[in-house]
Amino acid sequence: MFSSTFLWFSASLVAAQYSVYQPKDQVIFGGTALTLTAATSTAAPSNFTGAAAYDHTVLNPPAVPSPAIPTHVPIQLPSSGGLPNLSYPVNGAFMGFSIEMSVAPQILGKNSTRLLPPFLNLMANIVERAGWVQVRVGGNSQEMAYMVSSLPNATMLAKDNVTFGVTNTPSLLYTPDLLYTMSNISRLTNTHWHLGFPFAVSGNVSLAIVENGQSILGDYLLGIQAGNEPDLYSTHGLRPSNYSQYDYFGEIGALVQQIANDSAVPNKNNILVVPSVQVLWSPESVWNTGLVSSYSSSIYALAVERYPNDNCAAKNPAAGQVVNPQDVFIDYLQHNISTNLVASYLNSTAFAHQNGKPLMMFETNSASCSGFPGISNSFGAALWGLDWALTMAYNGFTSALFHVGGQNSYYNPFTPPPTNQTKFGIEWTVGPIYYSALVMAEVMGPHNQSQISDITSDISTPMYAIFENGAPTKLALFNFVTDPTGASTYTAVISIGGGSTNQSNATPSQVQVKYLLAPSVSSKGNFTWAGQTLGDALKSDGRLNGTLNVTTIQCDQTANTCSVPVPAPAFALVFLTSDSFNAVSPTSTVTFPTSVQTRSHFYIDPNMLATSYGHTGMQKVRGATSSGHLVSGASSLHPSLSCALAILTVTLAAIGVAQRW
Ligand SMILES: *[C@@H]1O[C@H](CO)[C@@H](O)[C@H](O)[C@H]1NC(C)=O
Ligand SMILES: *[C@@H]1O[C@H](CO)[C@@H](O)[C@H](O)[C@H]1NC(C)=O
Ligand SMILES: *[C@@H]1O[C@H](CO)[C@@H](O)[C@H](O)[C@H]1NC(C)=O
Ligand SMILES: *[C@@H]1O[C@H](CO)[C@@H](O)[C@H](O)[C@H]1NC(C)=O
Ligand SMILES: *[C@@H]1O[C@H](CO)[C@@H](O)[C@H](O)[C@H]1NC(C)=O
Ligand SMILES: *[C@@H]1O[C@H](CO)[C@@H](O)[C@H](O)[C@H]1NC(C)=O
Ligand SMILES: *[C@@H]1O[C@H](CO)[C@@H](O)[C@H](O)[C@H]1NC(C)=O
Ligand SMILES: *[C@@H]1O[C@H](CO)[C@@H](O)[C@H](O)[C@H]1NC(C)=O
Ligand SMILES: *[C@@H]1O[C@H](CO)[C@@H](O)[C@H](O)[C@H]1NC(C)=O
Ligand SMILES: *[C@@H]1O[C@H](CO)[C@@H](O)[C@H](O)[C@H]1NC(C)=O
Ligand SMILES: *[C@@H]1O[C@H](CO)[C@@H](O)[C@H](O)[C@H]1NC(C)=O
Ligand SMILES: *[C@@H]1O[C@H](CO)[C@@H](O)[C@H](O)[C@H]1NC(C)=O
Repeated sequence: MFSSTFLWFSASLVAAQYSVYQPKDQVIFGGTALTLTAATSTAAPSNFTGAAAYDHTVLNPPAVPSPAIPTHVPIQLPSSGGLPNLSYPVNGAFMGFSIEMSVAPQILGKNSTRLLPPFLNLMANIVERAGWVQVRVGGNSQEMAYMVSSLPNATMLAKDNVTFGVTNTPSLLYTPDLLYTMSNISRLTNTHWHLGFPFAVSGNVSLAIVENGQSILGDYLLGIQAGNEPDLYSTHGLRPSNYSQYDYFGEIGALVQQIANDSAVPNKNNILVVPSVQVLWSPESVWNTGLVSSYSSSIYALAVERYPNDNCAAKNPAAGQVVNPQDVFIDYLQHNISTNLVASYLNSTAFAHQNGKPLMMFETNSASCSGFPGISNSFGAALWGLDWALTMAYNGFTSALFHVGGQNSYYNPFTPPPTNQTKFGIEWTVGPIYYSALVMAEVMGPHNQSQISDITSDISTPMYAIFENGAPTKLALFNFVTDPTGASTYTAVISIGGGSTNQSNATPSQVQVKYLLAPSVSSKGNFTWAGQTLGDALKSDGRLNGTLNVTTIQCDQTANTCSVPVPAPAFALVFLTSDSFNAVSPTSTVTFPTSVQTRSHFYIDPNMLATSYGHTGMQKVRGATSSGHLVSGASSLHPSLSCALAILTVTLAAIGVAQRW
């Protein structure tokens, strides 16, 4: 449906083993959900013949606004007491990821002893800044997933030949080893998880995932999603056409009862995520059933799923007018795309807060049906994703999970390489949305106390002030404009205390600034965060590369101002205190080595890691995927500590990225 991203192009890059599962795309058009036609009838909206994840479309950056943006922007902050419109405290792990269950092996690893180092590195980067990270494994493919005790060839997930509903969606089979894989990832990186019940068949929900999820993942299991987009169930042929919010309410009641009766489920409270509606049912129409008050003790979080746009017509003309990405690029580069979208959830954020429950955006990204070429994978999307996350946080959402599709998605935060004949351990593609998540972790930090105020005055330059305990700690400043002449660079003139605040001057003597930069909003690579990068397409092992570059700006304490330039385009995070800077600027980086190589896979043995980190403490260990070893075909590598340390040494000497370890 909106989020489905696995339509198969007959592209040579897409290897057979990725066809684990192939849900049909769905689109809401004129209030009716349409099932998209088979993959073979679809065409990529660009001329690139490879998979969408490597699409080369580069759009033109939107024109410089006329009238021009203000280039001198005074920002007056109080030194204490906050602002009247501060958000609730926001968690550093606000921005997480949603991984379609069917592609879990390609992203997490083949099984619990074949973890993929790039994924570990990508999670570790967030954890170093926010303290933890949250990932959902689910989506449409969770609905028809059944646990079995084992599968051939030590795999943990496979397509079954039983199909469901009018879309004939095949079911998935998975083994408990999927949960052991997640558990091993958690132990290494403090990743926490959301899972989903298989809700495809009414009244016959297998509890295997919650039984095993609780026993294997323990506290690393956050929520179990009870139904993914139930408002689309009748369209999918999974329920009768008159299936309603009240029927869903009844099914949740039956599930709560089933859990109560199941002695293999030790924790019966605070586990369910409901109702995860998309747009056919309003959230209010579900709240009105009494769902939350009736089953409050069972509910962990309330959730919705939403994308600001869709690109479904590119695959199915029946879905409406084909959208020309160039025409809508500007929409993503204005603050009101986010404030308009969040407006339909303001009742729900208030309702969730009144009921003491989190409200999660359980699945989102730039556009459903795989995103837009040239937008979803551009620097503009990194700025959009960050502004959308901050808008949700300001308006009372508690977290947002950005969807990771398959090879045929433009919007992936990260994409493993397309075949197992390539360097599976290193050739990942890190997309702009991953940078949004990395930066969001720094904006909010690890203290769970950041409260934000949206102080935007121009839609081309969103701005947020971040406070902890009423004192300003950071400013988040966007410039959505692309203007290489420099004429659209603006200067934020920051004053703390003094002025109209009736407080004494409190502007510090200097501030530190980290910039998220690329040459243009249309750039498809050369993204840097504080000078470091995760590389261009097919170039990443999940580690930040390059020398950290933090800009120190001397303030004018006589005038009580700090002047921070924000180029066009850029995002600038201004640290007003050294504590706020230090909390999110790791002095050492945990990275994960490739310790074992087979012909087609590069992976670490978690047992080896458990040993190797045991005596030093994980926070101080740095390893690496050694490209030197990979190209020289070191198939004799063994999973031993000495070997891992040898790789570590070679790598750091060879590529010289150890400036902060
Ligand atoms: C695709 O190729 C055609 C013919 O070469 C060209 O006219 C068109 O501009 C190309 N479209 C894109 C999006 O590159
Ligand atoms: C298991 O792997 C072998 C060798 O790669 C292959 O020939 C066989 O078809 C696989 N079995 C299944 C059930 O996938
Ligand atoms: C994972 O797969 C590898 C390679 O097929 C196999 O040797 C190993 O035993 C598997 N591990 C588990 C836990 O199944
Ligand atoms: C699924 O595969 C099994 C084993 O190959 C076979 O016995 C069964 O008939 C198949 N079911 C369907 C619905 O095709
Ligand atoms: C990883 O999973 C395996 C199960 O296959 C388990 O034996 C092992 O202890 C786990 N390792 C860690 C570090 O949790
Ligand atoms: C219920 O689910 C089980 C598998 O968990 C399956 O064997 C059985 O056929 C299902 N029953 C119905 C009525 O769908
Ligand atoms: C919020 O709830 C009120 C009262 O139920 C309703 O009138 C309004 O339309 C809702 N707003 C949105 C955006 O749905
Ligand atoms: C990928 O790996 C699997 C199992 O290791 C193997 O069966 C398959 O043939 C490989 N595919 C390619 C394209 O090498
Ligand atoms: C929040 O309050 C600040 C300070 O009063 C104000 O500048 C800003 O416009 C407000 N934000 C919104 C979205 O109303
Ligand atoms: C990155 O910058 C280099 C040097 O300007 C350029 O050659 C390259 O094409 C850029 N890469 C991308 C993906 O834009
Ligand atoms: C890091 O960047 C340097 C310089 O651009 C490059 O040579 C090297 O290959 C990169 N290393 C990794 C692991 O991406
Ligand atoms: C560090 O970043 C600043 C701001 O973007 C830039 O002007 C400067 O050239 C960078 N320094 C290095 C060494 O890259």
